[in-house]
Amino acid sequence: MPLNSFRPGKLWPDNHGVHLNAHGGGVLFYDGVYYWFGEHKIEGEAGNAAHVGVHVYSSRDLYNWKDEGIALAVSDDPNSPITRGCILERPKVIFNPRTNKFVMWFHLEPKDAFDYSGALSGVAVADSVTGPFQFVSAFRPNAGVWPENVPAEAKRPLSPEEAAYVAKLDLPGGPVPYYPKQLLFRRDFAGGQMARDMTLFVDDDGSAYHFYASEANGTLHISKLSDDFLKPVGKFVRVFPGRFHEAPSVFKRGGKYFLISSDCSGWAPNAARVSVAENIFGPWEELGNPVWGTNEQTATTFGAQSTFILPVQGRADDFIFMADRWNPANAMDGRYVWLPIEFKHGVPTVSWHDEWNLSFFDKASG
Ligand code: GAL
Repeated sequence: MPLNSFRPGKLWPDNHGVHLNAHGGGVLFYDGVYYWFGEHKIEGEAGNAAHVGVHVYSSRDLYNWKDEGIALAVSDDPNSPITRGCILERPKVIFNPRTNKFVMWFHLEPKDAFDYSGALSGVAVADSVTGPFQFVSAFRPNAGVWPENVPAEAKRPLSPEEAAYVAKLDLPGGPVPYYPKQLLFRRDFAGGQMARDMTLFVDDDGSAYHFYASEANGTLHISKLSDDFLKPVGKFVRVFPGRFHEAPSVFKRGGKYFLISSDCSGWAPNAARVSVAENIFGPWEELGNPVWGTNEQTATTFGAQSTFILPVQGRADDFIFMADRWNPANAMDGRYVWLPIEFKHGVPTVSWHDEWNLSFFDKASG
């Protein structure tokens, strides 16, 4: 029996009856078909590292997903940056019409870097949408480039005293009151900026942008990609220094850019945030929590964390909020929470529905 609805948080069988295995994922619409790429997780805690790679599924209706196999496989070569056992998270794929290539970016931590100190961006490329993707490179973005939106006097490496001060700070990757808001991008100027949770966004003019949690997760960076989408072009801004936005997901509606992101609390859920900008490089303004519901639902984003905003094809104003309900004790059993975005006075909000389908959008307004 084909599926004809979304049931957030429930098991979601693929065409073989197996729960979809595409965590921290994103969706690419290409040639009339949706492709969902995400982290393939294995059972148990071991599943929090990458033992298989990036899984891809295809669908025409968004309810029924066909297993298209592993788009990017981890490597058996212990010297490969994506060797089995590395941490490979939040893969996103975009299509480049200039090169006719599919380009995947992901957050990469070298094998055994369980403290997430690597903070690398990985890039892979394929000629066909379901892969196989070939690994291209892993790096910290924007080495040797100053952000666009800092004053001229901030465009200098740390002094020895500042460097010594920063080196002593305990920066766990979550909010701390002593977070050094204006020092880490200067520390990382030469070697490249830290890049953890991430997404990609392609604008109407075909330019692509990489949004990543940087500077020990405390500051979001928005970085323009090169024409081939394989590297940063050397133009980026810092957004919300010290606000710790993770799990970025971006969409554009009515000429405005919206960002739905989370707070930083590891696998444990927290309250989401929605932000808006007229220009992709800002200024960005935080509007508050997009989740409407019970105290628990608003405080935990329905027990989930954003990963992608899916534009529904053929409906310019309709978007689906995609989030992960993580299960770090048994990673493979993570659940997907897909909910319709409802606009109230032009502001995106998300409410709970036990079960819904795309006809929901016929009734919605805003
Ligand atoms: C979350 C992040 C996930 C993963 C996890 C590890 O905050 O969004 O992608 O990195 O931390 O603890």
